[in-house]
Amino acid sequence: MSDVPWVVLKFGGSSVATAERWKQITSIVLERAAHSRVLVVCSALSGVSDMLESLPDATLGGHHGPILEAVKKQHFALADSLGVDVTQPLNSLCKDLDRLCLGASLVGEFGPKLSARVLSAGELLSTRIGAGFLRHMGLDCAWLDARECLESEPVTGDDWRHYLSAGVEDKPLPALQEKLQKSGHRIYLTQGFIARDPAGHTVLLGRGGSDVSAALFACALEAQSCEIFSDVPGMYTANPRQVPTARLLKQLDYEEAQELASMGAKVLHPRALAPLRRAAIALHLSATQAADVEGTKILPATPMRGRVKAVSAKRGITLVRMDTIGMWQQVGFLSDAFACFKKHGLSIDLVSTSEANVTVSLDPTANAVDKDTLRALVRDLSKICRAEILSPCATVSLVGKDIRTILHELAPVFAVFEERRVHLLSQAASDLNLTFVVDEEESDRLVSKLHALLFSGKDADDLLGPTWKEVFQRQEKTTKVSPPWWIEKRDALLTLSAQESTPRYVYDQGTLQKQAQALKQIQSVDRIFYATKANAHPDILACFEKEGLGFECVSPGELQHIQTLFPDIDPKRILFTPNFAPENEYQDAFQRGVHVTVDSLYPLENWPDTFQGQAILLRMDPGQGRGHHKHVRTAGSRSKFGIASGEMERLLAAIRRANATVVGLHAHSGSGIRTHAAWAETLSFLAELRPHFPDLQFIDVGGGLGVPEKPGQAPLNLQRVDKALQKLKRTLQGVEVWMEPGRFLVAEAGVLLAKVTQTKKKANVNYVGIDAGMNSLIRPALYGAHHGIHNLSRLNEKADLLCQIVGPICETGDTLGHGRRLPTPHEGDVILVENAGAYGRVMASRYNLREPAAESLLATAKD
Ligand code: LLP
Repeated sequence: MSDVPWVVLKFGGSSVATAERWKQITSIVLERAAHSRVLVVCSALSGVSDMLESLPDATLGGHHGPILEAVKKQHFALADSLGVDVTQPLNSLCKDLDRLCLGASLVGEFGPKLSARVLSAGELLSTRIGAGFLRHMGLDCAWLDARECLESEPVTGDDWRHYLSAGVEDKPLPALQEKLQKSGHRIYLTQGFIARDPAGHTVLLGRGGSDVSAALFACALEAQSCEIFSDVPGMYTANPRQVPTARLLKQLDYEEAQELASMGAKVLHPRALAPLRRAAIALHLSATQAADVEGTKILPATPMRGRVKAVSAKRGITLVRMDTIGMWQQVGFLSDAFACFKKHGLSIDLVSTSEANVTVSLDPTANAVDKDTLRALVRDLSKICRAEILSPCATVSLVGKDIRTILHELAPVFAVFEERRVHLLSQAASDLNLTFVVDEEESDRLVSKLHALLFSGKDADDLLGPTWKEVFQRQEKTTKVSPPWWIEKRDALLTLSAQESTPRYVYDQGTLQKQAQALKQIQSVDRIFYATKANAHPDILACFEKEGLGFECVSPGELQHIQTLFPDIDPKRILFTPNFAPENEYQDAFQRGVHVTVDSLYPLENWPDTFQGQAILLRMDPGQGRGHHKHVRTAGSRSKFGIASGEMERLLAAIRRANATVVGLHAHSGSGIRTHAAWAETLSFLAELRPHFPDLQFIDVGGGLGVPEKPGQAPLNLQRVDKALQKLKRTLQGVEVWMEPGRFLVAEAGVLLAKVTQTKKKANVNYVGIDAGMNSLIRPALYGAHHGIHNLSRLNEKADLLCQIVGPICETGDTLGHGRRLPTPHEGDVILVENAGAYGRVMASRYNLREPAAESLLATAKD
């Protein structure tokens, strides 16, 4: 068997955490084992390393028991679901853990040596289960202790590095090769992340070190290739979670991959590349759950030089500007300046110089850039120049070998930066990237724009593979996600668009009801007010009125609209939540008898008569804005909404003077939030303020519940939202919890139908023109929002055209979708834009004097 080559396969934490993934791992290993000897390197089950990492503190605090129990439970549950009996090794490892913690708690010390042993348990446990399962599936697999194979280089005088961030020399290990050869198995399964020191103690290779282990094993065995499997199929032209049209990169060379890995592409640990590069071993990145999709191949040399391969961004960058006022020419200025950085332990990333200014950037991953350090740095620098800190900034980089050779082709890229402040421009000496440093808040939009410019409309070739969505589409189809309503109602939609004018928003009553009912399942929320601003169509409002929801309104127009549609509605089912409204609007609202929310001190201090004797809600600023785009984050010191809790004394005085009674507290941190804990955090913030308001009856935790917009995004888990709220609610006897969602109720219920007007191919880009433009749906232009787009007329045909979907408005921003793949559209085809029920028609305009899309409701049968 000695002439059979080795391949090393590494599976990350999410790949080894479920029975389904282990079945996929089995078929990958079987397939490789047909031609090669296989060494499988595994991480700990996802979440386990975090738990183990918390053990030292927990042990010293005397509460490690539940953590150990949770670790044990997770492993036994996985073993159970795989049907393998590994009770004996699991029990013995868990007992070891118990003993180690007990020992540490007795001596009151948990040093690096012990931490390494505790943390290594994650991989030891996962591999016992994995090897057991592969054997159970009939594979000739032996469990191997990585500590018997990889030996670290000792670090004297630094225990932390020695035990927890150890280095292992990458080199062939003939003794290991011989040992494995002798024991004669086709497949071995071992741990990532761990090794031994020369004295035989367990050491760790640093967080993310399993990739490094795989690379070291590949070198040790002189393997033919090393394959790293995770939940992502490889490296992309941009972060696919941010830019859905990002394309899988089919091949890169080591240096490009290193550049992308260091810039934050999380699929690969940057330290894994150097050993493989030195040994010229090819590296493949793939997704365990989509192993048949060719991922990214990383090879010694790429034939494709002089091409931009990716756009990446890194946030949290700090810039230091040094104005040198004539000292620049002086010998030694730079060395004095850099000495200051060295003194404060700061490593400089990018540098740019001009006649009178030197600007450098500090990367947060390499530096602890805290305020005190920066202040001290500026103090020292001030002795030799005028120093200024700029933050938060972000780097936006174009990555690819030999970018310098195509600078002349990048004119449109530079145009994207027009009107943005570029603080620093740097072209890497390695000629691997061109980097712009901009204000952090600009970076997302710039990345999307640059990506559209550089990659949209490009056909697949040796470099560019499928988008994230294309890779996972098949997979999505096989998971239980139910198809959107419009697929089932396709015929009705096509008939409607033949009989009525387009463009047209169509809303599905069944989906509106379904969403309202889902929200009503949240036990901890007593009342739901629909945020009318999301969609004020009378049929939609009527549907929610029937479902028993209240209405949140932000203007007299919305109040009037609701009270005209439902003349008998109890005014206490209506909330008025204005912002910077004039005095008469508050007076009008009190006359209507609705709940009134005040979100600033000004009205109370300046119009006390208006609030005399009234019951009000206060909108407080929870301090942290959230949401899908900075324009919709409505909290924090830079937002115009809410009262800062630091102004409590002035607020209480103003309320007393106006003789108003506070019956409710309110906060809304933003829109399009999919983090389930967000509302519980708001509730906890508002609950803290309760002691100031003895008459408190309601706490309104706002709206903002998001729905998946980009492919691959998970829906918000309402049960978890509920659970998190419930915990707090128990402590809030006598206070109702309210919520005021808009998007969640209507977004998915609405689609925008439009007809194809013309098609065009220019400079190799295909344009599909439709009769709906940014005047009907402004979200893509305003927020870079992503809406799925489909050719409804040819839904079942092959998506063979990569194109830009554009409207008829006289602006380049009038693009509803960049780089979409559709069955080739023809004039008159009906195009469907998904998720358009929220903030669609309500934000439409008559720009260019074009009428925005009309609206229709598809009623459920009974109505
Ligand atoms: N409550 C208040 C005080 C609000 O300002 C808003 C939305 C909501 C509730 C409802 O938020 P929702 O549940 O719909 O996320 N035009 C943007 C969204 C702007 C949201 C404004 N305020 C978009 O198209 O994404």
